[in-house]
Amino acid sequence: MDPPMSVEGEPMAVVLPAFTPLEDSLFLTLYARALDYRRRHPILGDAMADRLVRELDYDYDQLRIDTNLVLNVALRAKKLDQVAARFLARHPDAVGVDLGAGLDTRAFRLAPPPTADWYDVDLPAVSTTRDEVLEERANAHVIAADVRDPDWLDSVPGDRPAVIVADGMMAFLSEDELVALWNRLVDHFPSGEIAFNSYTRFAIWIARHARGTKSVADLVKFPGMDDPRAPEQWNPKLQLIREILLSREPEVAEFPPAWRRYHRVASHSTAWSRTGTIVLHYRF
Ligand SMILES: C[S@@+](CC[C@H](N)C(=O)[O-])C[C@H]1O[C@@H](n2cnc3c(N)ncnc32)[C@H](O)[C@@H]1O
Repeated sequence: MDPPMSVEGEPMAVVLPAFTPLEDSLFLTLYARALDYRRRHPILGDAMADRLVRELDYDYDQLRIDTNLVLNVALRAKKLDQVAARFLARHPDAVGVDLGAGLDTRAFRLAPPPTADWYDVDLPAVSTTRDEVLEERANAHVIAADVRDPDWLDSVPGDRPAVIVADGMMAFLSEDELVALWNRLVDHFPSGEIAFNSYTRFAIWIARHARGTKSVADLVKFPGMDDPRAPEQWNPKLQLIREILLSREPEVAEFPPAWRRYHRVASHSTAWSRTGTIVLHYRF
């Protein structure tokens, strides 16, 4: 739907419901993408994220987001977009699923073909807000559910190839919850791909202690995963396609000089690169 307008024709600040701290975490990534958009050389360039941040009445300053987080959130979103876009190009009849979608505008960035269906899944308060602040798109659906609940998949077609992404969500699930979710997804669809940003044990330790992620530190349940092939043990159908180490991605050339130098040095070491942001990509 269109954003509400004031009498002066300016978009009005939308009053938000009381989110739990878990739901509230969506603002960290939304604001990071808005700040990326405001950079001279954006990585993702998500104008809608910037528009949402300007419209939603929220105290963004208390998030204390640093440049490093902005760059990583923007680049991992771009990598997940690329995975989804390539899959949709190969499978125009696909089903896309964004787990813990928050107020991400991925479905708008991707603009899936009319033959595909896209599902944004998040907790009820977030999904209701999503319906209120984002325009409807043909073939884009919002599911209000806890992803750990097995029933929500009943409303998603199970007879088409699927591309499933999770951006910034897996840290909030325990390993057992994540394994159960991945197994349900693999069992539900005939074939597909799953991509998500992952964390090593060390990266989880950093997330718990860094200033930029302080607001979500107490919510982190995932212990971290050092071996990108571990999910292949969770379900025999899961096969690692690629471990995307952001330090080694070409977009690092667009980072500010100090961060560009850091990632160029880090990129020579897999162990060092893994301490940063990782996107893992599997087929099933
Ligand atoms: C850090 S935010 C990321 C949001 C979005 N993917 C983005 O990139 O902006 C994490 C999101 O996961 C959602 N989430 C966490 N646990 C969830 C669960 N068990 N079921 C559904 N959504 C969940 C939260 O409500 C929140 O919107």
